Amino acid sequence: MTKVTPLFDEARIAARVKSLADEITAAISEPFVMVGLLKGSFVFVADLARALDRAGAAPQIEFLRLSSYGLGTESSGDVHLLGDIPTDVAGRRVLLVDDIVDTGRSIAYAQALLRQRDVGTLSTCALIDKPSRREVAVTADFVGFTIDDLFIAGYGIDYAERYRHLPYIGVVTD
Ligand code: IMP
Ligand code: MG
Repeated sequence: MTKVTPLFDEARIAARVKSLADEITAAISEPFVMVGLLKGSFVFVADLARALDRAGAAPQIEFLRLSSYGLGTESSGDVHLLGDIPTDVAGRRVLLVDDIVDTGRSIAYAQALLRQRDVGTLSTCALIDKPSRREVAVTADFVGFTIDDLFIAGYGIDYAERYRHLPYIGVVTD
């Protein structure tokens, strides 16, 4: 039986999302487009969008869907595009938003795709960073929490499609 042991509770996540929104509005001038990576970032994007509103920003919201881990806890290393943004982002200010930067492959893929589309400026925000897992040199401009090599779930993040609905983030163990 897998177990999810709480790591960041709802209050802690909400406080960090609020401060991230403050950092982002101080650093990025409007107008900008938030591009969330599905599915893992859907809860984070929803909360961040409303925190950005409270901080005075009014971002456009789009999503890119990339292939994911499949059912395991190790990345296949293979990233594919499953769903594209319908918007022309050429010349626009874009904030790429993901749940976790792990090996860095997904973020690297999304950044390269958006650069091919000639975005004006590109910034990246990740709720969770796991720097010790990095295989591709990418950095996020805005990071919610930096953690060790732990496998986590909840708050949109899954383990084999489970636990996305949890309002908190926890460590998955067998
Ligand atoms: P990367 O391409 O290896 O950086 O992986 C990024 C994606 O893998 C994240 O957006 C997550 O969807 C997934 N992922 C990475 N670490 C975890 C984890 O600890 N739990 C669940 N999903 C994870
Ligand atoms: Mg993901």
